[in-house]
Amino acid sequence: ALDISKLRATSGLITLDVGFKNTGSTTSNVTFLDGEKGILRHRGYSIEDLAEKSSFLEVAYLLIYGELPDAQTFENWSSRIMKHSLVHEDIRKIFDGFPSTAHPMGVLSSLVTSLTAFHPESIDPNRDSAAIDLTIVRLLAKLPTLAAWSFKNSQGLPLEYPNAKNDYVSNFMQMMFKNKHMDYDVDPVIMDAMNKLLILHADHEQNCSAATVRVVGSSLSSLYVAVSAGINALWGSLHGGANQAVIEMLETIQADGGNIDKFIAKAKDKNDPFRLMGFGHRVYKNFDPRSRIIKKAADDILDRLGVNDPLLDIAKKLEDIALTDPYFVEKKLYPNVDFYSGIIYKALGFPTEMFTVLFALGRLPGWIAQWKESREMVQPISRPRQVYTGETHRAYPEDRTVA
Ligand code: ACO
Repeated sequence: ALDISKLRATSGLITLDVGFKNTGSTTSNVTFLDGEKGILRHRGYSIEDLAEKSSFLEVAYLLIYGELPDAQTFENWSSRIMKHSLVHEDIRKIFDGFPSTAHPMGVLSSLVTSLTAFHPESIDPNRDSAAIDLTIVRLLAKLPTLAAWSFKNSQGLPLEYPNAKNDYVSNFMQMMFKNKHMDYDVDPVIMDAMNKLLILHADHEQNCSAATVRVVGSSLSSLYVAVSAGINALWGSLHGGANQAVIEMLETIQADGGNIDKFIAKAKDKNDPFRLMGFGHRVYKNFDPRSRIIKKAADDILDRLGVNDPLLDIAKKLEDIALTDPYFVEKKLYPNVDFYSGIIYKALGFPTEMFTVLFALGRLPGWIAQWKESREMVQPISRPRQVYTGETHRAYPEDRTVA
């Protein structure tokens, strides 16, 4: 195998690949992706099998430790995680400082960084593996609590504490939707859909946020700090923020009288910055295997919940037109996972601003696996070069006076 710690910097020749479209930044054993054939596998297992047969926490274990857990290992793993799901009471004081209008992604990334204050030993990424494991367990355990609390904060509602007796997904749903006046029973169909959605987002090799986590981790930053940076990278509308942008785009089309052709034309117009949100992918050029699974899940859940949402009709029409329009066909722009996930989240009652937070919950095991792998590989600090195109040497004006 390639020992990347032995690779030495070369001087002289610099390759330029803006956006890293064709540049591998690392070797990795975590996720295999073939964009032409539409294949996605984690540690060798197909995404189809994992989404159908595993729970989210099993997939998290697989990504982080390389194997599916046996029954006893899983029991220990999940009960350990649930035991750590409470956050320090002083974190509530930090919540009090955020206005209720704060976007939950900003709140989430700030709070993940603030975990270093409550668990300062996590700052050193070179501890023994038991200490690293504890940091990993804490992060997986606390992110749903922080996510649900940032939602409650945005609604001005009292925070709901985690319940270690619940499983991971239903605990999160309870913290989101239960309150002092209303119980929330988690429907098994909703549980199944949530597990699937989280699994489908769990890792995607060197995407923008995972690459960010590795870059930040390469300077020997702690796991919490690297994941906080990943959350911020995910927030943008060209990445995880697309799931929120999809629903906002559908709402705009609806408010504009449902004129889909007009928006298709805008997306094709080179002078118009508008893009069809939820279409296209850097790597998948035939189809996104996650979209197939999620599309079916969307149909099942909408049937089950009896949802009748005019935005869904717009989404379906948009999908039909784009799939046959020569512009989208020639450029191989297909609906990606974000096109459908927002539709399901909306049907489940999540407010639009929480959609990208749900993506972050799903992507967390991937970020952890990527950070852990890069540390184990003793990856050198990430430090790309550039091709300078600015002014060459200029003489400082002698007669310049400072105002
Ligand atoms: N609508 C209209 N045109 C598009 C779209 C779109 N959604 N996506 C790409 N194109 C066009 C571009 O204008 C470009 O045209 P050109 O070759 O004539 O200049 C061509 O298709 C290639 O697009 P790039 O931006 O070069 O492709 P890139 O790989 O850099 O970008 C991306 C991929 C960011 C996903 C892009 O397709 C996009 O902006 N999609 C919409 C946002 C979105 O859905 N993001 C979620 C991605 S999936 C995820 O993060 C889980």
